[in-house]
Amino acid sequence: MTRLLPPIATNGCDDATRLRQRNCYHGRLNYFTPMGNDPAIIICREGFEDILRDEMTAKGAFPEPAGSNQPIITPGAGLLVVNAPAGTAGADRVSAPFIFEQQRLEAALWLEDQPLKAMARAIVVRLLPAISSRTQPWTLHAFASNPNGAQPLTQRAEHVRQALLDFCADRFTVVFRRYREPEAFAATDAFLVLQICVTPGGLWGAVMPSHRLSDTRPGGVHRMRFDNKAPSRSYLKIEEVFERMGATPAPGQRVVDLGAAPGGWSYAFLKRGCRVLAVDNGPLKLQGLGAAGGNLTHLRENGITFTPPPAWLPLDWMVSDMLIPPGQTLGMIRKWMEHGWMRRFVFNIKLPQQQPYPVLKTIEEYLHRQTGITFAIRQLYHDRREVTVFGKLG
Ligand SMILES: C[S@@+](CC[C@H](N)C(=O)[O-])C[C@H]1O[C@@H](n2cnc3c(N)ncnc32)[C@H](O)[C@@H]1O
Repeated sequence: MTRLLPPIATNGCDDATRLRQRNCYHGRLNYFTPMGNDPAIIICREGFEDILRDEMTAKGAFPEPAGSNQPIITPGAGLLVVNAPAGTAGADRVSAPFIFEQQRLEAALWLEDQPLKAMARAIVVRLLPAISSRTQPWTLHAFASNPNGAQPLTQRAEHVRQALLDFCADRFTVVFRRYREPEAFAATDAFLVLQICVTPGGLWGAVMPSHRLSDTRPGGVHRMRFDNKAPSRSYLKIEEVFERMGATPAPGQRVVDLGAAPGGWSYAFLKRGCRVLAVDNGPLKLQGLGAAGGNLTHLRENGITFTPPPAWLPLDWMVSDMLIPPGQTLGMIRKWMEHGWMRRFVFNIKLPQQQPYPVLKTIEEYLHRQTGITFAIRQLYHDRREVTVFGKLG
């Protein structure tokens, strides 16, 4: 990983000038830290740091001679610190987000913990010039590196966010006029994002153009709302997939759900009025089919050998959450891709305990060889020891 933002233009707008004058906050200040020396921070789920490192290594993200630019890993921290190898463009070599990556901060600056107001001032002094020297609208993503950890820092991130916005609104009105809440932007808009990733002991901060984020959500966190009528927490995974795909099932669509019990995914389709074939030897625990007139057929069959009825083809959705080893999931993916029975597909892959990346590599390479499909493989926010493949044919 190396620097990705172009150097900051210092066109002397009002706020940038005021910031320079305010460098008495912390004595000698360096607003324009040479970005080639600043690390990239790659955020992942806590406990998956080594797996992300293996994936990045296999994808050539550390092209220097072995050992010279290995990422710094703190087990359980939920991030990798990747030092920029001099004179290379490591991140551009692998521009698609990694499977285990939830978000990235390029050319990030480290700020040690300090009282809240001092922290807000330090962020303004170090990072606001990258915004004030440009004309685009901007937003703020403040998040914890460990949202699922034993002592998540989510509350600290919220306090920093609020203190920073108050400070900007009070002292930097010209820049603040261009501030928008994160939800105000569409995925295709061009804007700047000030990212603040709160970790034990301090925080990482970076300003990036929106198109360089690896996820539109702050910290890559897609926290979905649970529906109390859903019979399992797995419901949250399929809701997250809908959000990530930007696709909502429509009434009357035909769905095959393999490994459907107790029924969380089926319920997500039924409540939107879909017709669902739910395949599982286990019992479904659905309390109702939702108000939208969904229709359910439960087939107690083996999902691996299941063949969809010709009258249902092509399916609008084929989804699979079966508890089977990843090698079998690859077999399923091959079978369904080669028959082209569905328009959209979702396969959840349960990870083996040891070295999960090599098996994912085989699946990823198979999918890359297919023509006429678009797909992504990501560890969802609601995934545990699993990742999800989703996409569409045609
Ligand atoms: C993680 S649960 C699925 C949860 C479900 N998606 C939900 O939202 O409630 C995995 C399911 O896969 C089913 N399963 C495992 N192997 C299967 C197979 N060969 N055929 C059909 N179902 C299978 C299990 O019976 C289990 O109900």
